[in-house]
Amino acid sequence: MARTAVSDKVAGVLLAGGNGTRMLPLTRDRNKHLLPVHMRPMIDYALGTLLGMGLSDILVVTGRKHMGQVVDVLGSGAEYGAGVEFTYRVQDEARGIADALALARPFAAGRRLSVMLADNVLNDDTPRTALRAFAEAEPPHAVNFLTEVDDAAAYGVARLEDGRIVEILEKPAQPPSRLAVTGLYLYPTDAFDFIAGLTPSARGELEISDLNNHYARAGRLEHYVVRGWFDAGEPEPWARTCRYVQDHPECFGPDRFRLRVGP
Ligand code: DAU
Repeated sequence: MARTAVSDKVAGVLLAGGNGTRMLPLTRDRNKHLLPVHMRPMIDYALGTLLGMGLSDILVVTGRKHMGQVVDVLGSGAEYGAGVEFTYRVQDEARGIADALALARPFAAGRRLSVMLADNVLNDDTPRTALRAFAEAEPPHAVNFLTEVDDAAAYGVARLEDGRIVEILEKPAQPPSRLAVTGLYLYPTDAFDFIAGLTPSARGELEISDLNNHYARAGRLEHYVVRGWFDAGEPEPWARTCRYVQDHPECFGPDRFRLRVGP
């Protein structure tokens, strides 16, 4: 079956690498993104967001250690709907989110990018309409999805001037706003050129915030504000995410949220 029209213009990328150290010992023998969130593996929710945006052609990037488990759980994509196709790439070492994204260049093959972190859960319909506008925008720009949080210092945080993002600060001790950058990003094709020029941060990673700052500085970073967002990558937020999904079954059913067909 042919891929969806929007997938001809935008490649889906799901990032499920990293070492999962903040979730040890649970991640000793498995990929963090396969841990349960209520009744599904964590990765299903980020996939549900990308599929719900209309994307059917998705690259999954994972670390080498538990790659087999990820393929085992996700398969070819067929269980997620007709025409859905997954491609896999290995990130040998956890050198950062932007490093993982760089692996998508051959897969993207000139298409724009819709990128999601596999430990994020998002219950908001905004990305679907945002993708339509982004896919057609000329000249092309990048998009961040922001959300208001109480603990902004734990995330990338946006500094806004006159309603536009002028800077993203990665886990700042003194956040300039309460607007965290969620793990869903839209990028033009030149993202790969910018990533090639990035240098590792103090934590030794190629930071996605540095890529976003390239677009912010160039006045090419748009944003939307979303709700219902969770980063399930640490013990307490993970527990909070599980409770939220359990308490909102109407938001995560197959009619509202594109998830695996059947059990
Ligand atoms: O969740 C949103 C936050 O994600 C943003 O607000 C931050 O700006 C962004 O840097 C990121 O922060 P985290 O500290 O939560 O990123 P973490 O290292 O937990 O990685 C998140 C996901 O990215 C992880 O679940 C899989 C993917 N990843 C990460 C690394 C470091 C990779 O695929 N490869 C990697 O090397």
